[in-house]
Amino acid sequence: MTFNLTEEHLMIQKAARDFANNVLKPGVIERDEHQKFPTEEVKQMGELGFLGMMVSTKYGGGGMDCISYVLAMEEISKIDASCSVIMSVNNSLVCWGLEEFGSEEQKKKYLPRLATGQIIGAFCLSEPEAGSDATSQKTTAIDMGDHYLLNGTKNWITNGGSASVYLVIAQTDASKGHRGINALIVEKGMPGFVVGPKENKLGIRASDTHSLMFTDVKVPKENRIGEDGFGFKFAMQTLTGGRIGIASQALGIASGAYELSLAYSKERKAFGKPINQHQIIQFKLADMATEIEAARLLCLKSAWLKDHHKDYVSASAMAKVFASEVAMRTTVEAVQIHGGYGYVKEYHVERLMRDAKITQIYEGTSEVQRIVISRALLA
Ligand code: CAA
Repeated sequence: MTFNLTEEHLMIQKAARDFANNVLKPGVIERDEHQKFPTEEVKQMGELGFLGMMVSTKYGGGGMDCISYVLAMEEISKIDASCSVIMSVNNSLVCWGLEEFGSEEQKKKYLPRLATGQIIGAFCLSEPEAGSDATSQKTTAIDMGDHYLLNGTKNWITNGGSASVYLVIAQTDASKGHRGINALIVEKGMPGFVVGPKENKLGIRASDTHSLMFTDVKVPKENRIGEDGFGFKFAMQTLTGGRIGIASQALGIASGAYELSLAYSKERKAFGKPINQHQIIQFKLADMATEIEAARLLCLKSAWLKDHHKDYVSASAMAKVFASEVAMRTTVEAVQIHGGYGYVKEYHVERLMRDAKITQIYEGTSEVQRIVISRALLA
């Protein structure tokens, strides 16, 4: 066992850190306040290879491992969690799902543009009445011979307005339960596909989250991913990797808040000395650092398992549930350490606290992760 990162890992980590500090940080407060989608920043992320990190070079990606992805996600999430969710969905759910399960034609058609950020993708599973209970899909994809007729509504779709390619999970044959579900590639502009208004969110406000409406959208048969009825397993396996991305996002939010708190505690004086000379603050910092390190190890372990083609279902759920809870606890403490300054936007920690909450909700709530972990334990 080794805990050392390779030279390449360290280079990627540094590149992500520099990009986050130099490019993302200057406008992050304004983008959050005005819910401004980071169009230019996302373009640069694509050019630097952050949007298709694990896609093989054959399809225009970075050909990197999942460890590299965790390291980059942490650095970018420290500064801008809106950018990191865009990055995570594009990398883990869209690119990985297509490369792992798509046909050669689908990979050639979509991956080179997705991996370089010329276009971005969205993953469409959640519905008004199907969140955690993902088998209860009401969206239908009726088999019409050479195409599917898609009808229904999807909710809470990250990249919903800005994407060009949507991986949509829909029910083809309800009598077959989860084996009657398909995953279809839907392109923006297909007749009958309408993007609903942007959600006004608590956190990750610069990312665009929308409902999507499909009315008699004709999706060619060649746009189905995998065999007929594979859609639910496609979603589950893709989300398993996605959870490593969101766990790393939560880790980054936590470590960003911790680093700000550590720096602030050296500058801020109270009762005649810097506040980090008071044991109450030292203990808070010690707890934050310990929990963050544990979350980081869970993220890296699940990435290592994925890279080595071992079972990472339970490990990714553990990483996500723990890192997201650490993100919540750490950001609340970070605001407390900053006192009144923590409650205003210029000091960043209030935004990180708002951003942290979603990591306990999307790509499977904390309750769903506990279902996944306990099923593995009892199996
Ligand atoms: N990998 C492979 N197969 C899996 C799997 C996995 N991780 N999890 C389940 N399966 C398979 C099972 O083996 C089973 O197959 P068989 O019947 O052939 O054995 C089948 O899928 C059904 O599994 P379950 O009976 O376990 O399914 P369930 O209905 O009990 O649901 C659940 C389990 C874990 C709760 C699942 O529904 C789930 O993960 N729900 C949460 C969905 C979610 O994460 N939504 C987030 C939306 S996406 C998002 O947020 C993106 C974004 O924009 C940020």
